[in-house]
Amino acid sequence: MTGVRKAELHCHIEGAASPALVMAQAQKYGADVSGFISGDRYVWSDFTEFLTAYDGAAALFRTPQDYALLAQTYLEGIAAENAIYAEIFVSPDHASAAGLTPESYFDGLAQGIEAAKASTGIECRMIVVGIRHFGAEKVEAAAGLAASRPHPLITGFGMAGEERFGRVAEFARAFDIARDAGLGITIHAGELAGPDSVRDALDHVRPSRIGHGVRAIEDEALVKRIAEEGVVLEVCPGSNLALGLYPDMARHPFDRMRRAGVKVTLSSDDPPHFGSSIGREYEMAAEAWGYDAAQLTAITRTSLEAAFVDAPTRAFLLGQLD
Ligand code: HPA
Ligand code: ZN
Repeated sequence: MTGVRKAELHCHIEGAASPALVMAQAQKYGADVSGFISGDRYVWSDFTEFLTAYDGAAALFRTPQDYALLAQTYLEGIAAENAIYAEIFVSPDHASAAGLTPESYFDGLAQGIEAAKASTGIECRMIVVGIRHFGAEKVEAAAGLAASRPHPLITGFGMAGEERFGRVAEFARAFDIARDAGLGITIHAGELAGPDSVRDALDHVRPSRIGHGVRAIEDEALVKRIAEEGVVLEVCPGSNLALGLYPDMARHPFDRMRRAGVKVTLSSDDPPHFGSSIGREYEMAAEAWGYDAAQLTAITRTSLEAAFVDAPTRAFLLGQLD
């Protein structure tokens, strides 16, 4: 299965920093990470603590060079697992908290993306995210920034953060701004909150993709609607298990959704936090549901068809699956 070409649609770049890299950054800046890293592992016990660990790691990337290193390290790592394409969630709010302007943040990331492309051929795009628990005003500002098209590699807009904060409708304007600018639209829903959050996302945001969406399985009519509307789910099983949504892969709804006609894809979310990687996600799916190489490649095809890229790039990437 390691030979199967893979694509990742859902990975938060700050959440992709390995504990080893974060410890090196901590040494560089004389910071203490013992509150959220122990040995070679992140330490947290629930989603709120996870967000604290995430923010703590993000605070140690403070220059364009730091972000170039992070993006290059992550992308070269997944290219070694045969990933040919990745979209990374980028958060100008996290960059700003670390003292970076949006321009220097995007430029640093782009340098890392270009270096990884040069060394491995991997293609990457950036999805600007607003952070839900920072409130609608901040999320609208992030959307406005993305809509100003500050970098050619920014092709989408999304919303991450605490899904139990506020109602989706409060954020609809942000998504209108991004959609009007021609950006691809995705939103985290149906991970920590139930099917209502997915229905709200469909009604108020009209996304082509949903981050997670797995808890839609609790509502049969909703699963049918997602299948009929062709909305693609960015499913991150390793993340779902680590956060306790499901006790094991046998109970995870990925395969049930696939059989119900939902377009499901595989991603790693915040890989080192969840003991995962895009390669590991494919491996776990193959083990749990007996997928062969052709079935796994079909998942990659679904991802590439839903990717926020221009037509020539999509055609080139799809050509690599033959
Ligand atoms: N879910 C929601 N928000 C996030 C995550 C996540 O897994 N990672 C970083 N922000
Ligand atoms: Zn996520």
